[in-house]
Amino acid sequence: MLSKKQARTFFLGGTLVTFLVFIGLTVYSLSKSQDQTNHENITEQVVRGKNLWETNNCMGCHTILGEGAYYAPELTKVIDRRGKGYIKAVLTTPVPWAPNGRKMVAYGFSNEEADDLIAFFDWIDDIDLNGFERIVSPLSNDDN
Ligand code: HEC
Repeated sequence: MLSKKQARTFFLGGTLVTFLVFIGLTVYSLSKSQDQTNHENITEQVVRGKNLWETNNCMGCHTILGEGAYYAPELTKVIDRRGKGYIKAVLTTPVPWAPNGRKMVAYGFSNEEADDLIAFFDWIDDIDLNGFERIVSPLSNDDN
């Protein structure tokens, strides 16, 4: 059994070591090499796209970074998956886009609005997901 003095030394030593580990990990987490967002690439166009994303309730059907509803495809990597031309067609078409059965709202966005949303998707697409690249979505039987 530990004497009272040994117990105190053990307690204080253990507290000090775990405290130093905690400080070390905090410094590491906040260091530049651990910065996984690309916030320096947020342009005014990206901000406009994000506003369109929020004011049109896209998350009522889609997810981005896994957040939102599970009715329509996940859009985190949609630029990689579909390319900008395809997305522009989806956003500007006057008739609901539905090659896979469920209907996308025919927002009929202007060219500029579509470009803003695409800039937003492009920025999201470049976030470092720490290797978690494949987010599964509904209607994904065809190519992803
Ligand atoms: C009422 C539900 C609904 C809402 C709201 C909605 N979408 Fe969609 N969206 C869909 C569905 C369903 C599809 C898939 C259509 C298909 O491929 O048949 C789709 C497809 C897409 C695609 C193509 C994705 C792919 O992988 O093919 C993009 C890009 C997209 N939507 C963007 C948006 C944006 C931006 C908004 C908001 C401005 C939005 N959607 C709002 C239902 C919705």
